[in-house]
Parts: sequence; structure tokens; C-alpha cells
Amino acid sequence: MSTVEGQTVTLSIHASPGEAGEAAAEQVADLVRRNSAAVLGLATGSSPLPLYEALAKKDIDLASVAAFALDEYIGLPAGHEQSYAAVIRTHVIEPLGMTPARVHIPDGNPDDEELAGEAYEEAIVGAGGVDLQILGIGSNGHIGFNEPGAPFSSRTRAVTLAERTRRDNARFFDTPDAVPTRAVTQGLATIFEARQLLLIAHGAGKAQAIRRALTGPVTEDFPASLIQHHPNVTVFLDRDAAALL
Ligand code: F6R
Repeated sequence: MSTVEGQTVTLSIHASPGEAGEAAAEQVADLVRRNSAAVLGLATGSSPLPLYEALAKKDIDLASVAAFALDEYIGLPAGHEQSYAAVIRTHVIEPLGMTPARVHIPDGNPDDEELAGEAYEEAIVGAGGVDLQILGIGSNGHIGFNEPGAPFSSRTRAVTLAERTRRDNARFFDTPDAVPTRAVTQGLATIFEARQLLLIAHGAGKAQAIRRALTGPVTEDFPASLIQHHPNVTVFLDRDAAALL
């Protein structure tokens, strides 16, 4: 493992996704040991899975922890196995022993999309804000489902997924056309307000995105670049994702 302390971003580079996940899990565990009622922000997708698996093996009580998922697809039937509600239940709530009522996920079938976004923002504020936000990164630089061009001032809202994101996520669905076209996502301003950001990426397919996010210009054209302005960010990478740094 090598650690490079930057002004704001701490890089933690590991030999494998499993080792990166273990180190990231230790950072989450450390927070929960200090504050058993901490508020986590949860990413889905493949990147945080090694983190969640490592956290599940730790002797740590997460029953009082609250959590807010980053996003949810719009339009999948309730209980669909690729809905983020189902993914979070299977990969986070059950293995980590979290309390289901304390884990919030945006409503993917809201009656009123605008009100749903506002209610989610209010729930985050009501919980005292997010202490530690877990993030993955899209190959196009999205965080949450804030696609290129999303305003840095954005809040939780309904968005249209970029075609590249739908292609990237087709691996989770039976056919590419089955990937939803829309989602509800925490906004970039919402994410930025978390007290601590933990970004995790592995594989050569993420190397270019990691390079742009950490060393490129801070621009809405590449939403993940916003993390350069956050005061407390740790980025956990395997060697392949770090190869272009
Ligand atoms: C998921 C999310 C997305 C993913 C990103 C990377 O909740 O917000 O930003 O983190 O699409 O996905 P994976 O990890 O599957 O490569």
C-alpha cells in the first residue's frame, strides 16, 4: 500500500481490489467505532462491493448507523433485483446487520419527482447530514448519476442517464435495452456537503477517469473533478485504476 497525502485528497493505492476494499472498510469502521450512530452515504455498483464484504467481516455493530443511498433507477418494478433498493438490501443491509428503517433509498417510482427530491434532501438534513459518503466513479466521470454537464449546485432530482452509463451498466441486465433511461440521484451539491468522501475504483477501465478526476480541470463537464475542492477526500484504488496517475 502506498499513501500520498495531497492538500485535500489522500490517495491509497493497493495491489488488488480486495486490499483496497479492506483498507476502505477500515476507514468506515474507524468512523463507526467513534460514532455508532454515524450517517453513511452508500454507492451501489461493483466498485464498493469489496468494501462492503470486508466491512461485513469486522466485529462492529452497524445497527444504529443511518445511511442514504446515492441513487435509484426510475421505473423498475418494486423488488426488481437490479433496483438499488434490492442491491442495497442484499449487499449492505443484510450482511452488515444494518437496521432497514435507518437506510434510505430514493423512490424510483415517485408520484411527483420534484417533491421526492426535496423530501430526500430534507431527510438527509434531518439526520444531521452525511458523515462519510462512499462513491464510485463512472467511466465518463459521473458520481452518483450526475452525468457530464450536471451543475455543481445540483440537488437530489430525476436525471436522464448518459448512453455510455447505460452501456456500462448493461452488464447487470438481461439486455442492453433493459437498462432504465432515468434515475433519481443525489446532486453534486448534496454529495459535496458530506463531511468526508471516500471514492473507490478498480480496474484499467477506470484509470482515465481517475486521472481526470484527480488531476484534470475542475469542470462540470467531468463531475468527479469536483472532489478536488472537498476538504476531506480519500481515494482507494487498485494498481490498475491508479496506473495513469
Ligand atoms: C452507483 C453510482 C454510480 C457508480 C458508478 C460506477 O450508486 O452512484 O456513480 O458508482 O457508475 O459503477 P461501478 O462501480 O459498477 O463501476
